Amino acid sequence: MKNTVSTLLKQKQSGDRITMLTAYDYTTARIIDECGVNSILIGDSLGMVMLGYENTLAVTMEDMIHHTKAVARGAKNAFIVADMPFMSYQASVNEAVKNAGRLIKEGGANAVKLEGGAEVCEQIRAIVNASIPVVAHLGLTPQSVNVFGGFKVQGKSLDNAKKLVEDALRIQEAGACAVTLEGIPAKLAEIITKKLFIPTIGIGAGNGCDGQVLVYQDMLGMTLGHTAKFVKKFADVGDVMRKGISDYIEEVKNGTFPSEEHTYAIDDDVIAVIAKEFE
Ligand code: KIV
Repeated sequence: MKNTVSTLLKQKQSGDRITMLTAYDYTTARIIDECGVNSILIGDSLGMVMLGYENTLAVTMEDMIHHTKAVARGAKNAFIVADMPFMSYQASVNEAVKNAGRLIKEGGANAVKLEGGAEVCEQIRAIVNASIPVVAHLGLTPQSVNVFGGFKVQGKSLDNAKKLVEDALRIQEAGACAVTLEGIPAKLAEIITKKLFIPTIGIGAGNGCDGQVLVYQDMLGMTLGHTAKFVKKFADVGDVMRKGISDYIEEVKNGTFPSEEHTYAIDDDVIAVIAKEFE
């Protein structure tokens, strides 16, 4: 059954926790979708985990549409949310609506996600008025990395915590259908979750949110180098890949691959004629 905005809302109301994972390509989206995850996010984190940038700022609308199309072809039941990349919605409300429309019309997403609170409420209102569901994103919003001076936990000071609660209420009032809470203290996320009627989906925001999201490379152990404190490694896919690839190299080098099992046969009399004519 296709997950929709109302599925997520009903899940919040009944206490059924929402599961969300990122995906950026057809094959991964298919596997994640078959496992029954409620929602797939084509995050602009693709800039880091798929394209090798050091942050998300260089990601373009073209990148987002390209990857969203692939995911939409693979995911049949999950609610598909596509990130609006840096500078695709900040400069004007008009551009925000047009770019959100492209992610739905060309990419095949069911909703868009954008970062920020009070300062993007006009954009949220206009996109929702264009019949496009909007997921908001508060807290450690990666597109503000230069303002934060790094990927730092937000909402720890009284002023900052108060602003986050106020922003959450503002984006809900503007029409957001859900909100991602990233990198904020668990107790603050719990208060926000109780205060809102729309679902909260946490990443590094503790267990009191209505749902959770992780970047799939992080939770499957495929990320190279440092991972954040909030990441739990549910499998060691990186090690499985390393072993498989090393075994392949070894077997090609020593001639054990391909064996007869992986080889096509030909009738002896046909090959005898060919051999006679060409050898
Ligand atoms: O880009 C992304 O993957 C995200 C998640 C970390 C929430 O925004």
